Amino acid sequence: MSDTARLLPGGPVAEAVLADVARRVSALRERGVVPGLATVLVGDDDASAGYIRIKQRQAADLGFASPHRHLAADAEQGELLDVIAEFNADPLVHGVLIQYPIPGHLDYDAALQTLDPDLDVDGMHPLNMGRLALGMPGPLPCTPAGIEALLAYHGIPVAGREVVILGRGATLGRPLAMLLAQKRPTANAAVTVVHTGVADWARYTRRAEILIAAAGVPGIIRPEHVRPGAVVIGAGVRYEGRRLLPDVDESCAAVASAITPRVGGVGPTTVAMLFRNAVAAAERASA
Ligand SMILES: NC(=O)c1ccc[n+]([C@@H]2O[C@H](COP(=O)([O-])OP(=O)(O)OC[C@H]3O[C@@H](n4cnc5c(N)ncnc54)[C@H](OP(=O)(O)O)[C@@H]3O)[C@@H](O)[C@H]2O)c1
Repeated sequence: MSDTARLLPGGPVAEAVLADVARRVSALRERGVVPGLATVLVGDDDASAGYIRIKQRQAADLGFASPHRHLAADAEQGELLDVIAEFNADPLVHGVLIQYPIPGHLDYDAALQTLDPDLDVDGMHPLNMGRLALGMPGPLPCTPAGIEALLAYHGIPVAGREVVILGRGATLGRPLAMLLAQKRPTANAAVTVVHTGVADWARYTRRAEILIAAAGVPGIIRPEHVRPGAVVIGAGVRYEGRRLLPDVDESCAAVASAITPRVGGVGPTTVAMLFRNAVAAAERASA
């Protein structure tokens, strides 16, 4: 990394968000409400099992109850829907996390659509995407919300500035564009989204004051795509085995004024937002 760009780590952002979540969980418990964050794992993928364990541990540390269901790798769609229905009906469950990906013979989107949208801590249910589009309250998609929080935490002004997002995927680029264009002090940006349909996308990224990579194409953002002094947020990653390959080439640090680190940038904020959605769901349910 060059010594010119300031680093924008996600760890302190996540810590601040989780400290707030812990306070809110305590306040709920004082009123006799134990927030419940249920988790669902299908299959025996090591990485997924590991992610669920980490989230359960963190849930327990924060004071959540976290009932868990583990379905076999060959579970049928009906079994998954039964678990979701069970959690939908359980008044002690305020949020449900279905660990993604699930085995290929199952339909994740169809399963998600049977989840009560108010329990959707990932913020990915179609109704929650609709709420986001309309500016209605509801769980926000975690990675976009984490990026907004990261920029705010590090004191990077967003309002009125030109933000360019490379990628229009459903989990990242598209909801992020909606979020950062909302009328709110930490958003309110002029947002442009580019993708494979814009052959000369670099024309847009080069004028961005804040450039957000959300493509999942290793090394796609290089210094020549970055406006000197821009803020660069690397959210897109691809995994090859355990190796993480980010969209943003490290050499961009020589051109940017601030940049997320290769590891520990957007990722930690995503997980923190999951818990923020969960505590907010418990607060709404018990209001
Ligand atoms: N850090 C985190 O916590 C976190 C969380 C969620 C996701 N992610 C990462 O974010 C990335 C995006 O996720 P997603 O689900 O939104 O992915 P996606 O649905 O695959 O979307 C990728 C987007 O990038 C665009 N794109 C791909 N190659 C391109 C190219 N060569 N030139 C221009 N545009 C290109 C695609 O354009 P078209 O639409 O034209 O195909 C698409 O809009 C992934 O790498 C994912 O791993 C990270």
